[in-house]
Amino acid sequence: MSLPDPFPLVARAPVIPVVVIERVEDAVPLAQALVEGGLPLIEVTLRTPVALEAIRLIAAEVDGAILGAGTVTENAHVEAALEAGAAYLVSPGTTPDFARHLAQAPVPVLPGCASVSEAMALSALGFQVLKFFPAEAAGGVPFLKSIAGPLPGLRFCPTGGIGPANVESYLALPNVVAVGGSWVVPADAIRAGGFGKVRDLAKAASVLKRTAKLG
Ligand code: 3PG
Repeated sequence: MSLPDPFPLVARAPVIPVVVIERVEDAVPLAQALVEGGLPLIEVTLRTPVALEAIRLIAAEVDGAILGAGTVTENAHVEAALEAGAAYLVSPGTTPDFARHLAQAPVPVLPGCASVSEAMALSALGFQVLKFFPAEAAGGVPFLKSIAGPLPGLRFCPTGGIGPANVESYLALPNVVAVGGSWVVPADAIRAGGFGKVRDLAKAASVLKRTAKLG
């Protein structure tokens, strides 16, 4: 089965900011700061009551943003996120039933996995790029190095515990196409309206080099 190709998407930036929007009025300026900083791939997590409205607003108002929905954990989230305008979906993990539902989505999906068996099950459904979550807690760089041999066809977007101190070690791996993280969108900066800081953090992240082939 051929699923929507995730490679053109992840090729757009080495870092996917994982965003938690508490106040809907922060959505547009935050997304603008990320786009201006060179990180157009934005993952708005479905963790707050305003998340879907934030996705709608960013999709309508921020040129250049490539907007995804994150923390997609149940079937109803898929339809709601697509209806709001999400161009891709990210899940923290996948049950077998949920993975089959995600495989029906008309947009690229980065389904979550934390083990070799989960990665194999997702690969069998046709997924090529998987979110590896929670990256640091689940084995980090050594885990991803260890599975490159037995799972040569799979690529990963590790997320969870990644920041300036370790991001380069992830992006140096040939099976890592991008990383996700919240360090470029600190909650205190958003709360204080510090979108210039977000833009500067995004700028620094946008120039990070990747080793992986992006296709
Ligand atoms: C998440 O879903 O919360 C992401 O994995 C972000 O993790 P981080 O805050 O450790 O970057």
